[in-house]
Amino acid sequence: MTAKQFYSAEDIQAYLVSNLAEILKLSSNEIDATESLESYGLNSAQAMILVGKVEKLLGFQPSPVLLWHYPTIAALSERLAEESEVKDTKVSHKATTPVLDLNAEAVLDPSIRPPSGNYELIPDPRRIFLTGGTGFLGAFIIKELLDKTNADIYCLVRAENPEAGSTKLKQNLQLYSIWEEQYNTRIIPVLGDLSLPLLGLSPEGFQMLAANIDIIYHSAAMLNYVFPYQALKTANVLGTQEILRLATQIKVKPVHYVSSVAVFESTAYAGKVVKEDDKFQHWNGIFLGYSQTKWVAEKLVKIAGDRGLPITIHRPPLIAGDSRTGISNTHDFINLMAKGCLQMGCFPNIDYMLDMSPVDYVSQAIVYLSLQKSSKGKAFHLQHPEPAPLSKLVDWLRLFGFPIQMIPYEQWQSKLVTDVTSAENPLYTLRPFLLERWSKEQLTIPDLYAQARRPHVSCQATLDALAGSSIACPPIDSQLFMTYASYLISSGFINVA
Ligand SMILES: NC(=O)c1ccc[n+]([C@@H]2O[C@H](COP(=O)([O-])OP(=O)(O)OC[C@H]3O[C@@H](n4cnc5c(N)ncnc54)[C@H](OP(=O)(O)O)[C@@H]3O)[C@@H](O)[C@H]2O)c1
Repeated sequence: MTAKQFYSAEDIQAYLVSNLAEILKLSSNEIDATESLESYGLNSAQAMILVGKVEKLLGFQPSPVLLWHYPTIAALSERLAEESEVKDTKVSHKATTPVLDLNAEAVLDPSIRPPSGNYELIPDPRRIFLTGGTGFLGAFIIKELLDKTNADIYCLVRAENPEAGSTKLKQNLQLYSIWEEQYNTRIIPVLGDLSLPLLGLSPEGFQMLAANIDIIYHSAAMLNYVFPYQALKTANVLGTQEILRLATQIKVKPVHYVSSVAVFESTAYAGKVVKEDDKFQHWNGIFLGYSQTKWVAEKLVKIAGDRGLPITIHRPPLIAGDSRTGISNTHDFINLMAKGCLQMGCFPNIDYMLDMSPVDYVSQAIVYLSLQKSSKGKAFHLQHPEPAPLSKLVDWLRLFGFPIQMIPYEQWQSKLVTDVTSAENPLYTLRPFLLERWSKEQLTIPDLYAQARRPHVSCQATLDALAGSSIACPPIDSQLFMTYASYLISSGFINVA
């Protein structure tokens, strides 16, 4: 193969597999494309040979950081194919063709259409279907639904058998200290998988579910800041399509879809005020695969709404811990970033607002809004009404006794490359997200998230819709920070020594 030509992900994967096998003196079928390159433990000489071979194929040298830290060879191949296409635009007709056309991805199976007739909201649903109940937000939505309705909650869960499914759901609520024994009989596991046709259920099982449930809350998704679109599409996009299929079969069931403010990451929104009823037409300049899937999935939900399905969209920002107990998801971006920066001894000095809302606020708002007739067809922003700047977090950390500096962003990035060289620092696995350069200006994702390049996400209509409730978003202040920090320290996640 000659250089400077566009290669598909399949071409690149086959090339990587065969060259890696040659270097390691293995046969190609001993190389697993679902493993990362890193897991093959190449020594530095072997690594340089492979980098050289990839460069020879593609005509440019991909950053070694990306090469070694992409989660799988398959995902890496997808990413390199995108990059190869971008580079190729300089010499071919593709100069005007976007790499991934998200509009073209947003096509809903034409057979997904609700039965005709008017739908009336059931004020007291008896059977609720929920996805993502083994996740962070899903746990809190379950609790809220159990407390605010009389319904049983049928939860899609990946598990070997119903008993294991129940245990997985129970342990998840216990993890966040929101489990009550009385919930036992009202949480019913439905074994399945979002990334499979009919959610992995048998046709009869799918029909039975479609006939019996009254309302759907779709919170499950693969959250991954490194995987490209194609690696997340099956669960996040096609899975949402299966949810819409379920909602429209046999009888109409309203869908409450948990989306994300990430649907506004297109550069077209930079500096603009974005309200809840924005049509989110723009997608050019959404670079993160995860955000791309959320944009396409939300479009599918919107199309189903245009075909007559009652839908409501809930768009959270980053979801922070429970403001009452401080308990949070220690695998989430905010916590990994805080822990990693503390280990480095410094935060990047960027103009960034802490775009986060406590999980108790997000879940209470979703459930309250979902039970209002007036929410049909609307979108809501669970954005914090008064976000705080990142520099404030650093000030609070200093008050807590952490000797932490803020250093220029470029310097921080260099330190990330030179100092963060093992998985002991949680930023290690996030390095592709933090270092990879995108866009014509070759900016990293954190550059693109800087305040000047982001939209101002308005939540006024959401606050108005919540006005009749007692639900209010807790302020991001030193008290909230103390609550979070106390949990992270007492759980051993952050070391104060
Ligand atoms: N966390 C945030 O900061 C944030 C911000 C904005 C929007 N959101 C949105 O909020 C929703 C919930 O996020 P989260 O923080 O609760 O995520 P999470 O803790 O990572 O939970 C994800 C959930 O999705 C399930 N899931 C993933 N792939 C699945 C599959 N193939 N089949 C069945 N279930 C699958 C997981 O099940 P397993 O337990 O089996 O893995 C888990 O229950 C997502 O839609 C996300 O996009 C989150």
